[in-house]
Amino acid sequence: MSVSTIAAASLSVKPLSDALGADVEGVDLARLDDATFAHIARAWADYLVLRFRAQRLSDIDLMAFSRRFGALDRVPIRANDVMDIGDPRIAIDASAREYVTIISNVKIGGMAIGGLGNYESSWHTDMSYNETPPSASLLYGIEVPPSGGDTSFCNMYLAYDTLDAATRERIANLTCIHDASRNSSGELRRGFADHDDPAKTVGARHPLVRRHPVTKRACLFLGRRRNAFIPELPPDESERLLDRLWKHATQDRFTWTQQWQQHDLVIWDNRCAMHRRDGFDDRYARVMHRTQVVGTKPERFG
Ligand code: OGA
Ligand code: MN
Repeated sequence: MSVSTIAAASLSVKPLSDALGADVEGVDLARLDDATFAHIARAWADYLVLRFRAQRLSDIDLMAFSRRFGALDRVPIRANDVMDIGDPRIAIDASAREYVTIISNVKIGGMAIGGLGNYESSWHTDMSYNETPPSASLLYGIEVPPSGGDTSFCNMYLAYDTLDAATRERIANLTCIHDASRNSSGELRRGFADHDDPAKTVGARHPLVRRHPVTKRACLFLGRRRNAFIPELPPDESERLLDRLWKHATQDRFTWTQQWQQHDLVIWDNRCAMHRRDGFDDRYARVMHRTQVVGTKPERFG
């Protein structure tokens, strides 16, 4: 990836690493015109993850910007000990409750206001256990700890392109079942049975190599490791191949890590980038609001 700076009117796009990610400066996302959005959409296709610092966004603004990328997807199924009403300290309207996912360690009266607590979360694609996982996720930092809780991203085009030819051929027609039962921090979702037998996994089945609907490029589509299963293979072979693909895909050289500042808005392409989060000290509050954009059914490459 080149380290050039693309300037368009007041907007500039500055790469954050060789793997993926760029800072977009000179734009107020609460007042966006169509021409500026077109530049953002192009930069997003090139860099997979965009960061906009110092944004002041209400939930309504966050939803409006997110809708530029497509219809909003509903919030995922919550874990057992998360409140239904979101953060009672922030009055939000009913539409935000349906579409804005709260990610937070804050508890009120013993109940979490959002998901994922202060735990580390492992590499994943958001809602990959759905038949049509979101195309984009947008995460806005409302309150962030002084350190910890960093979010890393991983470029799955690069992961695919750097596989050896024999492996690319071997996985070309394989699929994978993506476990719906637990979230990325390992919390059990409401209504799901607890199990750790990949052959019993409940969740969507997707191609291991997908064609990105916009760029048309191939990317590895792994989703989440726990309980993943390649149904075309015997269980032990599925495990071995998945271990190898995951080890390859999550090498540092394919990643970039976001260290949060309050009022950062980060959007990632959930089709071709995975993400994970570091844990953090539970004495600090972290409150993030996330939207997700309806995607298309993952299509096999080739
Ligand atoms: C998410 C997620 C990471 C974070 O919102 O999908 O994984 O940094 N969050 O909280
Ligand atoms: Mn996530």
